[in-house]
Amino acid sequence: MRHFLRDDDLTPAEQSAVLDRAAALKADRFAERPLEGPQGVAIIFDKPTLRTQLSFSVGVAELGGFPMVVDGNLAQIGTRESIADVARVLRRQVSAVVWRTYGQDRIEDMAQYAGVPVVNALTDDFHPCQILADLLTVREHKGRLPGLTMTYVGDAANNMAHSYLLGGATAGLHVRVAGPATHQPDPRIVQRAAEIASQTGGSATVLDDAVEAVAGADVVITDTWMSMGQEQEAAERKGASSPFAPFAVDQELLAHATDDAIVLHCLPAYRGFEISAEVIDGPRSVVWDEAENRLHAQKALLAFLLDRARDDG
Ligand code: NVA
Repeated sequence: MRHFLRDDDLTPAEQSAVLDRAAALKADRFAERPLEGPQGVAIIFDKPTLRTQLSFSVGVAELGGFPMVVDGNLAQIGTRESIADVARVLRRQVSAVVWRTYGQDRIEDMAQYAGVPVVNALTDDFHPCQILADLLTVREHKGRLPGLTMTYVGDAANNMAHSYLLGGATAGLHVRVAGPATHQPDPRIVQRAAEIASQTGGSATVLDDAVEAVAGADVVITDTWMSMGQEQEAAERKGASSPFAPFAVDQELLAHATDDAIVLHCLPAYRGFEISAEVIDGPRSVVWDEAENRLHAQKALLAFLLDRARDDG
């Protein structure tokens, strides 16, 4: 059974095929109906959501299926009952499980017992569905992926930084991730990204200087300085002496990128913190295309995983 728990669960060829399929589904939204029936898909949230709930719900419906959104506060997975028992119940009723949760170990447990494809809709460590949408967006605006330089600045220790490293390397991009020395990516992820990049012609570079990271970049990306689950660190992360302040994406920083660089942000965005209003609401920003592309990318991913599940019998 194939799952999508982290970005490197897709090979470079598979990732490219999923992006092609996403573009085709964007052009003809009802072209594929693998969930005809309708078959159910459980979409479970242990953390807040807007785009993910919307795009998976609409996406499952457009694929002919029935989206069953489950409130993690009610389900209390792992406390009221074990993850394994929840997985054993889900597999009897749904064709796929989409889960946004905390630890990566939780979604790995779910995948072990689910018997149907499991999709990571964000954990503390990765947000791989967002990267598929971002790659689709970059490809639309730049006409290609391999060889481009994609820079992420801000909290370099978070899920987005990790997913850009793995997903970007898989796509053959030169990925640069920059954040303060106190908030750098997990070295195991950097190592894995470098391994992948050596096969795809890309590269993976970690920096602690925003200007150096953005210099000559084709794509500039940031994310909130306070991820879901870090609310108790709000003062330290977003206060006057935030370690992330030198990594804020404003016109001055963006001036170091290429003249036609595009700007991405997975949203929600906090104007005046990680990104200026002038940039996110300005001509370089493609964030609304990016948000729409969650729908198309995730539909293509689900169609791919359901194909593989059918092949496995
Ligand atoms: N790093 C952010 C991404 C939000 C889509 C978080 O985990 O909250």
